[in-house]
Parts: sequence; structure tokens; C-alpha cells
Amino acid sequence: MSVERGTGPEIENLLAERRTFPPDPAFAARANATAELYEEAEADYEAFWARQARERLSWFTEPTQTLEWDLPFAKWFTGGQLNVTYNCVDRHVEAGNGDRVAYHWIGEPGETRTLTYADLQRETAKAANALLELGVRTGDRVAIYMPMIPELPIAMLACARIGAPHTVVFGGFSAEALSGRINDCGAKVLITADGGWRRGKKVGLKHHADEAMASAPSIEHSIVVNRLGDDVNMVHGRDRWWHDIVDGQSDDCPPVPVDSEHMLYLLYTSGTTAKPKGILHTSAGYLLGTAFTHWAVFDLKPDDIYWCAADIGWVTGHSYIVYGPLANGATGLLYEGAPDAPTWDRWWEIVEQHKVTILYCAPTAIRAFMKQGEEIPKAHDLSSLRVLGSVGEPINPEAWRWYRDVIGGGTTPVVDTWWQTETGQIMISPLPGVTTTKPGSATFPLPGIDADVVDGDGNSVPKGSGGYLVLKRPWPGMLRGIYGDPERYRETYWSRFEGMYFAGDGAKRDEDGYLWLLGRVDDVMNVAGHRISTTEVESALVDHQSVAEAAVVGKTDPISGQAIFAFVILKAGQEASDHLGVQLREHVAYVIGPIARPKFLMFVPDLPKTRSGKIMRRLLRDIAEGRQLGDVTTLADATVVDTIRENSGKAED
Ligand code: WTA
Repeated sequence: MSVERGTGPEIENLLAERRTFPPDPAFAARANATAELYEEAEADYEAFWARQARERLSWFTEPTQTLEWDLPFAKWFTGGQLNVTYNCVDRHVEAGNGDRVAYHWIGEPGETRTLTYADLQRETAKAANALLELGVRTGDRVAIYMPMIPELPIAMLACARIGAPHTVVFGGFSAEALSGRINDCGAKVLITADGGWRRGKKVGLKHHADEAMASAPSIEHSIVVNRLGDDVNMVHGRDRWWHDIVDGQSDDCPPVPVDSEHMLYLLYTSGTTAKPKGILHTSAGYLLGTAFTHWAVFDLKPDDIYWCAADIGWVTGHSYIVYGPLANGATGLLYEGAPDAPTWDRWWEIVEQHKVTILYCAPTAIRAFMKQGEEIPKAHDLSSLRVLGSVGEPINPEAWRWYRDVIGGGTTPVVDTWWQTETGQIMISPLPGVTTTKPGSATFPLPGIDADVVDGDGNSVPKGSGGYLVLKRPWPGMLRGIYGDPERYRETYWSRFEGMYFAGDGAKRDEDGYLWLLGRVDDVMNVAGHRISTTEVESALVDHQSVAEAAVVGKTDPISGQAIFAFVILKAGQEASDHLGVQLREHVAYVIGPIARPKFLMFVPDLPKTRSGKIMRRLLRDIAEGRQLGDVTTLADATVVDTIRENSGKAED
């Protein structure tokens, strides 16, 4: 395996971009995180995290041990007991901050709701009592499939209140994706909604939920939020409206103390095989990892208005809309809709109106805004912004500079944060009051984190070279495993390099030691910041009656980072046509969700394979990108690529 894109455009950009941005002295003077944190953590990283855990978390029982490390299985803060929701909600109320706003919610059609910490406490207690009434007990799994409405974080916190692990399934996923996840973890209750708003349209969820529940026998009940006010099918005895079962509950529901290593949630992520992996996060370490990084990386102050524009259905929303910010008592914004609904002004109106001080979003959004032109954000007063964050994929230097200049008025620090569903917490990022940044570089590992770039043999590469990104010691927010499959956990993350976690990303360390992320080196595509496995899309295509075989690659896309390019071989007797192309793309959207719909699809008579029958994706990528073909010596039948290339102009968009 070689690091792809190692000599790709990122490196050209790197050479072209030589400016550096030291922190503004005034910002540095009052920054939360200082350079001493690195020294403290380097001296003794366990002691560093132990101190953080004492200072940032409220314990029912203090832990007796910081770390038990039986590679690759970690246990943090054993002997300790706490409750995550108590840490995120109740303790702020007890400290006299019940009136502080936890979330300003904005629905896409424009309605708003404000939830204080006292409101959150009441609502999570009621929702938790509803779960108890439906028979959910500590340890039982609850699936959540909802739009971005306040009931979504409330549902998660209600689960954590009683120690019932949740699995949130992104509302854009299909019924099949939902039932697969429910069945993998055996969830007992599904919390959903009639639907939500997206780009001015109602998007129904309950019919998908119904379809999923039909093939998910573990589900005993569902709770349905009435978001749209639409008539939906309610199955008597199984489905309950949220307002019927939650609103009348007592608002007293004592948070259940759980062990530090009690499962907090599962979040499914695409792997290199078709079956999604249930990434398992536990309570204390995860909460500490998200709370510490949210405080340090975003420099959170009590009067900040913090907006993470991700969807809670992804890990960014779990860690940096719900758990990290709430543990820190932050005031956050929750927005239901799309950046361009009703117009491209929407985000900037929100920033102006709410005087947002910290914005955290994905490069794909930034590039989409760039394309619309700077007049749109410039028509708004964005001077409240003081920290800008980026996450989900490599941010190209042009987008980084545009973000800082146009959105940040040329002075606001940009923190490019690298992490993963698996890492739980931000791992590589500047600290805004400490680090001199370079546009496009995620800079350095955070205090307590040991990241390295290694060659194929696991040796650190010298400055100026590229290689594989690895993590060399455990960290509190790390995944504890893949649900139900310890072997797959070991194999996927810990087998490539002895004693190291391999993240699946390529990286380069420049002459000054800065880290530059170069994208995935495995068969996972990154579309608009979302990881989608080639295998899953291929399985979805082959699932269609007319398809014999399919291969899928990511093609560089100016907005979404990568776009899905599918090569399809039809079964004998099937006719290739534009109509069928559209049908197949829709089929993928149906099976996995619209996010996985291939942007390009090409019918091919055959696929380039090695003699052992492995599809040579590298060549398909070359074809998709319209590049010169790389080494073709291992190709079983060299004429195949010529035939494909002759046709490649016909790929439809
Ligand atoms: C990519 C999202 C470059 C990377 C939090 C990683 C990034 C995958 C960055 C994880 C970044 C995330 N720079 N690449 N700042 N942040 N990635 O699990 O390929 O949805 O492995 O977690 O996104 O995606 P995931």
C-alpha cells in the first residue's frame, strides 16, 4: 500500500503557501490554553489527564486508577463513577447557572426556541422517565433517528441520564441503513420524528422508521416527535407521540451513577467492508476528551456564542454540539437547515443576529460559500467572530485563507482540527493563543496526544516527508472497540503497525515539523466531510437486478472534496442507458442514503484487475481524474483500460 495523493495537489499548495500566522498577542494574553500544557503533558501524560479529570468532571466516586492499558484495549479512570448528563446539565443548574442558555435553536422555516440549562434538566428528566416507562434500563440500547431539533440532544441526554447507550443514525440515512444499525446493537426503543425541514421542503422520517422497524425485531417501542405536524402512521401499542409520553412525566429523574467505562454510545461508521462498524465510546474518558479540547481549541469563555454547524448525526455533533460544549456550560446554537436555505445569506444572518463568536464547520461548506462569492458574507456584520474551526477533511490553503480573510475579517484565528469518529476528540489542531498557523496545516498534536508520521515499516519519517498517520499512545476519548467484534477492532486499527493506532490517513511532516493531512489511504471516500466506503456503495449497486459488478472511487471535487464515481458492469442482456444510469444512482441513494448517490456513473464492459482478481482502483481513480495512467504492469488484461478510457467522456454527471 502506498500513500496516495502524496505528490498530489496538496503538496503543490504547500509549496505555494509560505505565509505563517502567529497568534495575536492580545488573544494570547487571555487565551485558555498556554504552551505550558504541552510541557506538562509531555512530562507525564497520565498525570496530565488525571489532573484534567479531577478539575473538569464531577464524580460520584473518584477514580482509583488513571489508565489501564492492555494494548489495544484501554480503560480510563477505573474505579470512578459519574453520570454524563449530570456533568452536562445538572451541575450547571446546581452552580446557579440554570438561566444560562444551553441552546438557541433555529428551525429552517425560521421559528426559534431557547433552552436554558434549567430547561434542559427538566426536559431530559422527563424524557428519561418516558424511557423508563417504556422499559428501558441501564445498559439497554436506544436508537435515535431525528432531524436537528432540540429533542435530539434531549433524547441523547435522557439516555445518558439513565445509562442507556444511544446510537444516533443520521436523518439522511435510509431505512435499510437504520435497520442494519438497530439490528447490530439490538436497540429496544427508537426515538424519531415525523420529519424535518430541509431546503424549504418537508423531509419525512417516520415512513423510513416504519420500514426499518419492520425488519428490526428488537424494537419494542418508538417515540415520535411531532415536528412537522403531519399525519403519520402510528402503530397502536408500539408508537407513542413524544408529547403524549414525555410531556406529562415528572421532571424528577435522578441521574444514574455509572462506571467510567460504561458505554455512552455507539456511532456507526463506514469501513472498508460492507458492514458498518459500531464505534464504541464510553463515559468518563470521552467526556473529558471532548470537554478539554472544546475548552482549549476553541478558547471557550463564559460569554461566547458557539456554533458548530455539523449535524448531530455525525461524531462532530456528538462531541462538539452536545457533550463537550454542554460539559463546559457553553451557550450554543442549533440550526436545523441547510446553508443555502432559503438563500446563501442564511448562515451569515444567523452569525450577525446571534453575535456568534466561535464557528466550527467543514471545508466543503467553506468552498461552497467561496463559490457564491464574498459579497454575500460581506453584506453582514461578522465582527463578533473570534475563533473559526474547520473539520472533516483537509482544508486547502485557498479555502483556509478565504475563511480567515472573508469570514474572519483577516484577523480571526483558524483552527484546522483533525480527528475521527474513532478518536472521539480533536487530536491534531493549533491552539489559537499558542500556535503559529500555516494555511492548510492542522499543525501539531494537542497536549497529551502522541501522533507521528511513519513509513511502511513503522519508522518515523524525517521532516519534509510523507507517510502514514499513526497515534502512539492511548487518549481518554479513544474508541474502546467495535461493538461486538474485538477482533475486527484489533485488525482494523492496530494490526498495520505494531503497537500503533493507524488512522487510515496519509500525512506529511514539513521542514518545520507541521503536519499536513493528505486524505485517506484506504478505500474510504470523503464526500463533503462524510466517510463513505467504496464497498458499501458497490454492494448497493450490485444489489440492483441489472448490475453484475461495480467498482467505485472518489474523484476530486471542487466543492465536496471527493465525489463518487461508479464504474458499472451490467448483467448480460441488460442495455446501458441514461435512464438506467439515473435509476442506479437513485438505487444507491435509496439503499444507503442520498449522501452516497454517485455523482458520476459509467457503464463499462470490464474492470481493470490484477491477476489475483483484485480491482485496481488506482487505475480507476486515474481514469476518473482524467490523469495519465500509472503503472499497468500488474494488470491482467491491459486492453481493459483502453476500452474504459474511450468511454470515459460519457460518464454522466
Ligand atoms: C478526515 C470527523 C484532514 C480524515 C471528525 C479522517 C480530516 C476522517 C480532518 C474522519 C482535518 C477529519 N484534516 N482530514 N482537519 N478532519 N478528516 O470519522 O480522513 O467522520 O480520517 O470524523 O475525516 O472522519 P469522521
